[in-house]
Amino acid sequence: MIPSKLGERLEKLGLSESIYEQRTRKCILSRTDMEMEKVPWYESAYFLPDDFHKKDSFVFDPVSLVPCLALDAKKEDKILDICAAPGTKTFIISFLTRNEAYIIANDISRLRVKRLKGIVNKYDLSAEVLNMSGRKIAGSFNKIILDAPCSGEGMVNKNKKLFDHWSEKRIRMIAKKQKKLIAHAFELLEWGGTLVYSTCTFSTEENEGVVDFLLSKYKDAKLADIDVNIVHTQGLIDWDGKKYDNSLAKCFRIYPQHNNTSGFFVAKISKGE
Ligand SMILES: C[S@@+](CC[C@H](N)C(=O)[O-])C[C@H]1O[C@@H](n2cnc3c(N)ncnc32)[C@H](O)[C@@H]1O
Repeated sequence: MIPSKLGERLEKLGLSESIYEQRTRKCILSRTDMEMEKVPWYESAYFLPDDFHKKDSFVFDPVSLVPCLALDAKKEDKILDICAAPGTKTFIISFLTRNEAYIIANDISRLRVKRLKGIVNKYDLSAEVLNMSGRKIAGSFNKIILDAPCSGEGMVNKNKKLFDHWSEKRIRMIAKKQKKLIAHAFELLEWGGTLVYSTCTFSTEENEGVVDFLLSKYKDAKLADIDVNIVHTQGLIDWDGKKYDNSLAKCFRIYPQHNNTSGFFVAKISKGE
């Protein structure tokens, strides 16, 4: 059962509860041409047909490409994937950089890090795995992805259990944690660098609210345009009586009905003048 308060909040965003019945499509990456339908927002990604046998392919929701493409990682970059387990974004960023970039892939959960290590080893990714709180990481990086722990409202057709734990109180608690993580991530970011913040939830408290907090805390934090050709709506600049910075409109809100994927939020932040 969808909590009635969640239903009301979805309705205010123009979303119907039927999103949770939607089947999402999955994809794989390949540099060689495949006789399969291409994912419109990335030329080397292909939708899986229903009869596809997994073999050794890494299969994922194609919406996960968006934060990784927004990061625009290059092989010479020093990349931090601060909440990396089980490793989907690490895998994609490795692919995008032809496995030549130096990636630190970290996660706080010992159990989930086991899965992350499994993926890094299986696909021989150019990533070093760490297992600590992201808030304890030291050093400096010019590309950071914070795919944050969140309330998961956008994980359609996957995890009905999320409704058992859903509450506005929990959202506020998670948003506090996200603010601490994003502030630390921004401190680790080099001048001129890029930080991508993403979640798989719809709640503004965990999305625009967190990014707006960062913009007001750090005057050198600026939102950048996301150059990914996927159907989306803009980030919100006011919600429920709260007013966010106008530049929040540069964020992407990707809803399940837009592209047959899970719901996602992506913000691209740069550090500079
Ligand atoms: C949305 S999931 C990340 C998914 C991952 N990026 C991927 O693409 O496979 C959020 C992750 O944040 C981790 N996490 C929660 N709090 C953390 C913290 N303080 N530091 C680092 N990781 C944390 C959780 O263990 C969880 O694996």
